Amino acid sequence: MGGLADFLDSLVGGVDRVFFSVAIGGLIWGMFMLKPWSRRYDEKHLSSTVTLIYYGAFGLALTQGFALIIKVWLMNVTLGVWPFPAFADTIQFKAGMVRMIVMGCLAFYVGSKLSLQPTSKNAWYNATALAIPALIAGAWLAHGAGRFDGRIQLMTITVIHQIAAAAWVGGVFQLINIWRLSTRNAIDPMLWPNFLKQFGKLGLVSLAVLMATGLPMAIGYIDSWNGFIGTGYGNLLLVKLLLLAIALFLAYLNNRGTREFFEQNRETLLFREIPSYIQAETFLLVSILFTAVSLATQPPAIDIPKTTATWQETLATFKPRIPLTTSPTHEELMAGEPGRTAIIGQVPSRASTDWSDYNHNVAGIFVTTIAVLAIIASLRPPPPHRGPYWPLGFAFLGLFLFIRSDPEAWPLGPIGFWESTLESGEILQHRIATFMAFMMGVMEYKARHPNNSNKKLIYMFPLLGAFGGLMLLTHSHVGFQPKTAFLIQAGHTLMGVFAIIIASARWLEIRLNDPKQRQIAGLISAFAMLQLGMILLFYQEPLY
Ligand code: HEM
Repeated sequence: MGGLADFLDSLVGGVDRVFFSVAIGGLIWGMFMLKPWSRRYDEKHLSSTVTLIYYGAFGLALTQGFALIIKVWLMNVTLGVWPFPAFADTIQFKAGMVRMIVMGCLAFYVGSKLSLQPTSKNAWYNATALAIPALIAGAWLAHGAGRFDGRIQLMTITVIHQIAAAAWVGGVFQLINIWRLSTRNAIDPMLWPNFLKQFGKLGLVSLAVLMATGLPMAIGYIDSWNGFIGTGYGNLLLVKLLLLAIALFLAYLNNRGTREFFEQNRETLLFREIPSYIQAETFLLVSILFTAVSLATQPPAIDIPKTTATWQETLATFKPRIPLTTSPTHEELMAGEPGRTAIIGQVPSRASTDWSDYNHNVAGIFVTTIAVLAIIASLRPPPPHRGPYWPLGFAFLGLFLFIRSDPEAWPLGPIGFWESTLESGEILQHRIATFMAFMMGVMEYKARHPNNSNKKLIYMFPLLGAFGGLMLLTHSHVGFQPKTAFLIQAGHTLMGVFAIIIASARWLEIRLNDPKQRQIAGLISAFAMLQLGMILLFYQEPLY
């Protein structure tokens, strides 16, 4: 079961930060935007705002407890010993327990007091005061706590950075809530544009604080260009910045639409397109949170100069070349495995590298072909009696990868299906990814078919795609391993970014009203697919 624990451990941190943002961002929203003690709001509006904070705090308490259980589980299966009482003395355990207990108390207070008196200023102040120890405890869960120089300063700016992130992400969740209420006519329709306008200011302040605190941390933890481009830490920061740039573009569109509404009384963007932009922005912000957690679990670039790749080495992994279309036999591969996986005196295996290159390159042929067909279908839609066939390509890709990904396990190798899936985190991730590719293909084919009656099916492709992207972004266990491991990861992280773009753009293609904008979003999604396919097509593993 170690594999399952490893897999859950890589995801739980991101889920934790999403709940954190909903709870803390919700409190900031209440204290600075809503101020329900000084203005009148509909009861439904206030109760759903408080409920969101309650879910955030309760979810965070649960996730934090779950994260500690997974850590104990992982240590138990990896080290073969029960980690207590030693683990109870660690900072991670103590800070984790504080967060769990404090958030449990906050959830209780919000559920039993704030929800009954949502207009009481005291109740809001008390809830915020209750959350403070959990915010402070977060300082011990990031790198700052382990530094010798400027420890207190680094811990302080990390906490401020986390609060600013929560204000932005939590605010977006509150906005979606307001939109949901206004589509049900449960609140005054003018609240939507008014809060959008106010949120523009909150977003700008959050961004300024994120940059003012993020940049000194980045400069403190990364001391060279090679560290930025050639380590897992730097690479994940780069990914964060890329995703941030796209989220900012969507934030700009929201802002423009809101200004048009107030200055020119133009409603079109505000009620038709902006809700969808905000949903897509949420995909991106959640991905940034998952990436941030991955980043904070990697050794800072400044600590690993000996295992840092040069930027030339990193770029070389993306260099175009003729894809490998012939694979070594299974026997050739297995013959090299004992040497390659030996703990001492490892012998590189050409067959293993070629096996992996072949898998990736052939997957690249699948994905680029699918992308080209998707682009054609977007420009010249298929006849009205049938949908496009390209989604089925993902189903075939899933089958191909299921057979080839883990040659040591069933169906090719001697290790059984369940044994391999539950014992190895990597195999479990492969199994989930291949199953998802298969299901995405089948469901998207059905969803796009004119006879499809299940209107919700169309959302499965972007949702599963985003989940796949998060898996790629969080599966960064390079740690202190040789730089070859980083070079393998660099391509996978970039594919994670493109998966998030595919998912968010597809979401927009489904949700937007304007046919032109929908077509553009569809093309962006298909071009991101093409980029992802090209990374796979030219993928080349270093021999180690
Ligand atoms: C200029 C932009 C940004 C820079 C330079 C930056 C930089 C960083 C750095 C270096 C860390 C790692 C701290 C460590 O290693 O302990 C970090 C953590 C973090 N960042 Fe950012 N960041 C930026 C924007 C954002 C944005 C837009 C968000 C989310 C909306 C965000 C959310 C976070 C969170 C939640 C953490 C803490 C992760 C954890 O608690 O495990 N950052 N950031």
